[in-house]
Amino acid sequence: MSIKNDEELAGMKKASEAVACTLKEMQDYAKPGMSTKQLDLYGAKILADFGAKSAPYLTYGFPGWTCISLNREFCHGIPSDKKILKEGDLLNIDVSAELNGFWADNGSSFVVGEDIHHHQKLINASKEILRKAIYSIKGGVKISDIGFIIETEAKKRGYKVIKNLTGHGIGRSLHEAPNEIPNYRDRFNLTKFKKNSVVAIETFISTTSIYAETLKDGWTMVGNNGGFMAQHEHTVVVTDNQPMILTEMNGIWH
Ligand code: CO
Ligand code: CO
Repeated sequence: MSIKNDEELAGMKKASEAVACTLKEMQDYAKPGMSTKQLDLYGAKILADFGAKSAPYLTYGFPGWTCISLNREFCHGIPSDKKILKEGDLLNIDVSAELNGFWADNGSSFVVGEDIHHHQKLINASKEILRKAIYSIKGGVKISDIGFIIETEAKKRGYKVIKNLTGHGIGRSLHEAPNEIPNYRDRFNLTKFKKNSVVAIETFISTTSIYAETLKDGWTMVGNNGGFMAQHEHTVVVTDNQPMILTEMNGIWH
């Protein structure tokens, strides 16, 4: 969406606060021994307290309130009472929701407990790259230029990017124009970021895969070549200068 007045900005801020706070609380709550279902229900309660509704549930009928992807799962993992968190697991939580007609989206990869499997380097790369990408966005910048930055920064650190997962426009629905904000330079995409538009910028930084494939459950995506992936996501408003980061309170950069 394009923000046209203060009411719309206030609406987006409120929805963003709901998803950012839920993500942060869930990340703090995640502990070894807990099931991903337990974690999801904890998040669902926080969303409900804000009066917010799960976006993947509303939009796609997703079988959960938040997407929780564990280790080899890259994204759209289904919360389950059979998936128990262990020390050192790589976990991704993606929280998106609708509140009073406004939609916001954010996500974070992190380690459960102690980093005994050394995932932190990948996670830090994803966070740093997201920061670099977001602070390079302003009105008039090409979407492909941001993709170029993400891919170049990933390569510099010895990582790859997932080509078929992208950021997206957001605001009046979960996914809207621009429909794809890729993690690589698509030279055929001449679309530019527009001032006042709301976009969800997300990284998909991986160790060995370049595509994500859907498992038989119809939701969970894993790498075409295995390995691990880290994702971090903020909902932002594009300006003439540095973007306004609506989900900043999720604390992924702190
Ligand atoms: Co998103
Ligand atoms: Co998301």
